[in-house]
Amino acid sequence: MAESTRNATLNIDGKLYELPVHSPTLGPDVIDIRKLYAEADVFTYDPGYTSTASCASTITYIDGDQGELLYRGYPIEQLAEKSHFLEVCFLLLYGELPTAAQLEDFETRVTRHTMLHEQMQYFFRGFRRDAHPMATMVGVVGAMSAFYHDSTDINDPWQREVAAIRMIAKMPTIAAWAFKYSIGQPFIYPRNDLDYASNFLRMCFAVPCEEYEVNPVLSRAMDRIMTLHADHEQNASTSTVRLAGSSGANPFACIAAGIACLWGPAHGGANQACLEMLREIGTPDRIPDYIRRAKDKDDPFRLMGFGHRVYKNFDPRAKVMKQSADEVLGLLGIENNPTLQVAKELERIALEDDYFVSKKLYPNVDFYSGIILDAIGFPTAMFTPIFAVSRTVGWISQWKEMIADKEQKIGRPRQLYIGKPRRNYIEVEDRR
Ligand code: CMC
Repeated sequence: MAESTRNATLNIDGKLYELPVHSPTLGPDVIDIRKLYAEADVFTYDPGYTSTASCASTITYIDGDQGELLYRGYPIEQLAEKSHFLEVCFLLLYGELPTAAQLEDFETRVTRHTMLHEQMQYFFRGFRRDAHPMATMVGVVGAMSAFYHDSTDINDPWQREVAAIRMIAKMPTIAAWAFKYSIGQPFIYPRNDLDYASNFLRMCFAVPCEEYEVNPVLSRAMDRIMTLHADHEQNASTSTVRLAGSSGANPFACIAAGIACLWGPAHGGANQACLEMLREIGTPDRIPDYIRRAKDKDDPFRLMGFGHRVYKNFDPRAKVMKQSADEVLGLLGIENNPTLQVAKELERIALEDDYFVSKKLYPNVDFYSGIILDAIGFPTAMFTPIFAVSRTVGWISQWKEMIADKEQKIGRPRQLYIGKPRRNYIEVEDRR
């Protein structure tokens, strides 16, 4: 990071401390507090890291007020329209759009790693049939470090590269097999003549007893969903991957930690929760009741697919997703899908309601994605695994960036201790 030329002055009880101020390429200035504890003997307090930059990064930028998302500087809308998922993977991993030759080489490398070690099948078979596919994924991805020993040395750049390619390549196979296992169908092996999204759809929906033709409308929609979810700067699961990686843990273990974090309904699990909510609402006349519940402080219910820590404007991914939902359902001839009608009406009503307007709560990426995934034929339990497949490249790009960053240390937050002060042990017979 470049030397800072500006300082902020902190006054604690009349004593002044100079803190360097860094100017990013985009976004607000960042006050560097790394020496604060050593010099002033104070910590900063920021639960949920609402005002804390945990790292310097060159990968993804979000302007929450403008509703803008850039991957390596390129707007998400342009990538969703003109690019495709594997090209976006290259961009996120290496920083630039690939030349035609680089793209071909990258696609070949990813395609050649799509199979899983045959022994890994037994891991799947050890789970209960009714296990949530996310539970299976956390376990199987964690187990990858037991199978791919030759790519767990984080200090070897070549091994880091192989681990990255392996994870991007194998994650669709893992998610598809978690799904197949849960519905009692045979595992379908990857096919290297198909593009990334088509291969994933085939592994999910083909059966050995008949031919399976991938519908190009669905594979384009799948690819776009993957592109829109590929990275999102320092979100909870990415920060989990970085924190796990900061101790020197191997990349498979770190990504397994990221998958576990993603599962929560406030994060990636919101796509499943959102479609289930839209189905539960069922008809537009029931919307006001759900809006009332979302506003009630005594009711834990939240409008799923609404609100975001960073976006205080439309989530640009939600805009593309809404348009994509219209297109896909139109091409499939199911544009009168009742869930889509409920979603649009719910969005309209919420965006006119003072509660949502004043708190700047807009639809996020999860609001419309489930409708497309449902139209493709996925059960809701597969929505978050698909998010995990798509986000793997973001996690691994951020992990690689962290390992190469000389300024990174083991992640070790401090605390504001509000427990008991020091006290002496009391013998059991003396306790009241
Ligand atoms: N429904 C009703 N009220 C909400 C909602 C919602 N979906 N989201 C936020 N609020 C209210 C919240 O109660 C709070 O009110 P008050 O200031 O009166 O206490 C205010 O808005 C600010 O919310 P917050 O919880 O302090 O904000 P946060 O940045 O900590 O949380 C969030 C962000 C995404 C967790 C939250 O908006 C939420 O729970 N949304 C629903 C779940 C969801 O859709 N998650 C997907 C996020 S996008 C994809 C991803 O990251 O994986």
